[in-house]
Amino acid sequence: MAKARARFVCQNCGAVYGQWAGRCDNCGEWNTIVEDNPTAGVGGGPQRKTRKGRPVALTPLSGEIEDAPRISSDIAELDRVTGGGFVRGSAMLVGGDPGIGKSTLLMQAAAALSRNGHSVIYVSGEEATAQVRLRAQRLGAADSNVMLAAETNVEDILATLDQNKRPDFVIVDSIQTLWSDFADSAPGTVTQVRTGAQAMIRFAKQTGAAVVLVGHVTKDGQIAGPRVVEHMVDGVLYFEGDRGHHYRILRTVKNRFGPTDEIGVFEMSDAGLREVANPSELFLGERNEKAAGAAVFAGMEGTRPVLVEVQALVSPSPLGTPRRAVVGWDSARLAMILAVLESHCGVRLGQHDVYLNVAGGYRITEPAADLAIAAALVSSLAGLALPADCVYFGEISLSGAVRPVAHTLQRLKEAEKLGFTQAVLSGGSADLPARPDGEWRFVENLSDLVARIAG
Ligand code: TYD
Ligand code: MG
Repeated sequence: MAKARARFVCQNCGAVYGQWAGRCDNCGEWNTIVEDNPTAGVGGGPQRKTRKGRPVALTPLSGEIEDAPRISSDIAELDRVTGGGFVRGSAMLVGGDPGIGKSTLLMQAAAALSRNGHSVIYVSGEEATAQVRLRAQRLGAADSNVMLAAETNVEDILATLDQNKRPDFVIVDSIQTLWSDFADSAPGTVTQVRTGAQAMIRFAKQTGAAVVLVGHVTKDGQIAGPRVVEHMVDGVLYFEGDRGHHYRILRTVKNRFGPTDEIGVFEMSDAGLREVANPSELFLGERNEKAAGAAVFAGMEGTRPVLVEVQALVSPSPLGTPRRAVVGWDSARLAMILAVLESHCGVRLGQHDVYLNVAGGYRITEPAADLAIAAALVSSLAGLALPADCVYFGEISLSGAVRPVAHTLQRLKEAEKLGFTQAVLSGGSADLPARPDGEWRFVENLSDLVARIAG
């Protein structure tokens, strides 16, 4: 047999290289590439017999196609991001930074599911059974029938699950602790993580259980990150949040059985995560309405409107190259708005440091926030506070035009509900019902907005 060539795998994104390199070209991370045994987990074993399959019709002749059978968790924010509950026979990855609250969330979900009569097994490779039990007690989940197993070997886990005749719901916490006898690299490497995840996914498909794999986002190149199994699972959820803030957002990144633009919002407490049904109230909770440089953006997350404050600070720079620092928004997009302000509106920011922050550690992904960001920047530069009861939304094009965005009506309704009486939006926002008090201000161009703020 020819000698297998060494291969090198990035532990962050799974890219494969023929030789070692300090930086991964695929994901840009440093020191994440390690040597990997290419034959591990494949071949080696006895020759497998070929088996003939029988293709089936895409649309069955009799009856309708059933919806994916779902297991609802009773946690509305969690069901929202999964698209109505966990799907039987599917595997879901829940990723997030260590300590962000993944185990807490899943223990709460496990307890809720078991109270609804589902059989749930929580496989913990990180904590001993006693520790998991303590956590469950703190979360008020100790009275549930969740079964615990502290295992890390994949074959042992599968044997344990087999013994417990068809659990409905299995949580594996975490994939980085999994190791298989059939892969001969160290636990935590891409090969082991993939082999382990593959085995759990196969288990889900074969038995019809819903499997949730927990994956830590790793900064250290020696341990594989959750991205290396993203393509294998049916759904990917990321749990994110700022350590300085007490709420957490569960975001769908991939979902074969539901929408991918939903978020679930939770608030951390001593007794675990609490659902936040109206995130806008939370994000706007700590507003200082009289401060210059703050604008409220009426955003959308999937089907849900979310109001959030964006804060800008523009100050004369002592540096040759002024600073631009952004938290919660795309820095390339900020550069674009600064350029449009400069070229089309005569707002000179080339000698100013610009700091931009989205309140509460929230992250905005929509271009619809352009107008709110521009308003905050101009307000800070002019030193004039914006009206406290006004929301802004609209996309800014390179020509300085303000373009309409989707879901105008929903955004306005949410703003109204929260006591905002004014809105600044694109003049092209068609088919809006007439509003008697006429407090929706339409702007065609960014310069209209600048004129409005700076007088
Ligand atoms: P944990 O769920 O263990 O995080 P992960 O599994 O993502 O690493 O939570 C980390 C710590 O935060 C843990 O000590 C418990 C604490 N915590 C709370 O006290 N309340 C909460 O609502 C959450 C989510 C966590
Ligand atoms: Mg954990």
